[in-house]
Amino acid sequence: MVYDFDTVIDRTPMSSTKWSFRKERTGVADVLPMWIADMDFACAPEIVEAVKARAAIPIYGYTQRTDGYYDGLIKWMKKRHRWSGIQRDWILFSPGVVAGFNYAIQAYSHPGDKVIIQPPCYYPFMDAITNNGRQIINNPLKIVEGNYVMNYEDLERKIDGRTKMIILCSPHNPVGRVWKRNELEQLVDVCEKKDIVIVSDEIHNDLILGKTMHTPTATISEEAMQRTVTLVAPSKTFNLAGLTTSSAIIRNKKLRDTYQNIIENNRTRNTNIFGIVAQEAAYTKGEAWLEELLVYLRGNLMYLEEFIKEKIPGLKVYPLEGTYLAWVDCTSLGMVDEALKEFMLRKAKLWLDEGLMFGCGGSMFMRINIACPRSVLKQALGRLEKAVKLL
Ligand SMILES: Cc1ncc(COP(=O)(O)O)c(C=O)c1O
Repeated sequence: MVYDFDTVIDRTPMSSTKWSFRKERTGVADVLPMWIADMDFACAPEIVEAVKARAAIPIYGYTQRTDGYYDGLIKWMKKRHRWSGIQRDWILFSPGVVAGFNYAIQAYSHPGDKVIIQPPCYYPFMDAITNNGRQIINNPLKIVEGNYVMNYEDLERKIDGRTKMIILCSPHNPVGRVWKRNELEQLVDVCEKKDIVIVSDEIHNDLILGKTMHTPTATISEEAMQRTVTLVAPSKTFNLAGLTTSSAIIRNKKLRDTYQNIIENNRTRNTNIFGIVAQEAAYTKGEAWLEELLVYLRGNLMYLEEFIKEKIPGLKVYPLEGTYLAWVDCTSLGMVDEALKEFMLRKAKLWLDEGLMFGCGGSMFMRINIACPRSVLKQALGRLEKAVKLL
C-alpha cells in the first residue's frame, strides 16, 4: 500500500465529535468510539496539500465555488458512477447533506404533508421531517433470506394525496445495502405512478465493499432523472465532514428553481473555502487513495465477520455491501435495548450507535463504525468478546 491506514492518530485533543467528549456524553472516559460516521484515517495527502496551499494565501473571505469544484464533481460522477451529461447548472448548493434534505423537505412539501422513509434509516431523516412540521410515513425494509429489501406494495399503499416525497438512502445507512438497479427501477416505478419526488441521499456512493456497483437513482430512466434530487458530498469518501461541503444535483428545472428559492430564503450560499479546494483535489487526485481505502475497509470487514463468527457466534453481522457501518443483530445476548446500550458502554467499553435510534426495525441492533486502523478494531472486538464471556 502507498497510503497509510494503520497509524493511530490521537484525535482526543482535536475537539473531535467522535473522540473528545466521551466522558461528557457517555459517562465513561475510556470508551472506544465507533459511532458517528467519520473515519480515523488521515486524509489523502493530495487533499492535505491542496488545503495547505490555500491556507498559505492569507485571505479567507467570501468565496464562490470554482470551475474546478464543478468540473471535478461532474467528471467523478461520470467515471465512478457512469452518470454522464451532468450540467453545471444542475449542481446546487448545500453546506451538508443533512441541510440538503431539510431544504428539499421545505421545497417540495408543506407543513402537514407526508414524507416517506425506509427504516431502519439514518435518524436525521426523521428529525428533518418532524422539525419541519411534516408527517413521517414509515415504509419499513423487510428482511428476506438474511438481507434487507424494500417493500414496494407497502410503499404504494401508503402514498396518498398528501404524500409529497420519499427520502431514499442509497447506499443504505445503517443496513449496508447497495441497491441493485432492478430494485431502484421498482422504486422509481411506484414514485412515478404516484407522482412523488425522490430525494436520494447518496453520500455513501463511493464506499462500495461488495460486488454490487452503486447506481445513482437519477440514472435509472428519464422519468427518474426528472423527479430525483441527488445529494452528494466528498465528506464520507474522503473524511472531510469538518469542511461542510456538499451539492444537490437536480435535472428538472422546476425542482431546481424551488430548491434554489429555499437557499435564497435561508441566505445560505457561502461555501467553506477549504471545502472547495478539498473537493477539487479529492475528485481529481484522490482516486488512488480511495481504491486503497476500500481494500483496507474490506480487510476490516473480513476481520470483523471472522472474529464474530469464531468468537461471538451469537451475534449476526448483516452483509455490508456499502458504507463502513456494520449492522449487527445482538438479540442473542438476551437483553432489552437499554440494557444492551449500557452493556456496550460500561462492560464492553464501546460507544456504538444503538439500533433503536434508526427507527422501527432497529431494536436490539448496534451499528459499528469499522473505519479505523485495524489495531483499534482488534482492540474493540477483544473488549466485546471479553464482556460477552462474563455474561
Ligand atoms: C446517509 C447520511 N446522510 C447524511 C450524512 C451527513 O451528511 P452531512 O455531514 O453532509 O450533513 C450522513 C452521515 O453519517 C449519512 O450517513
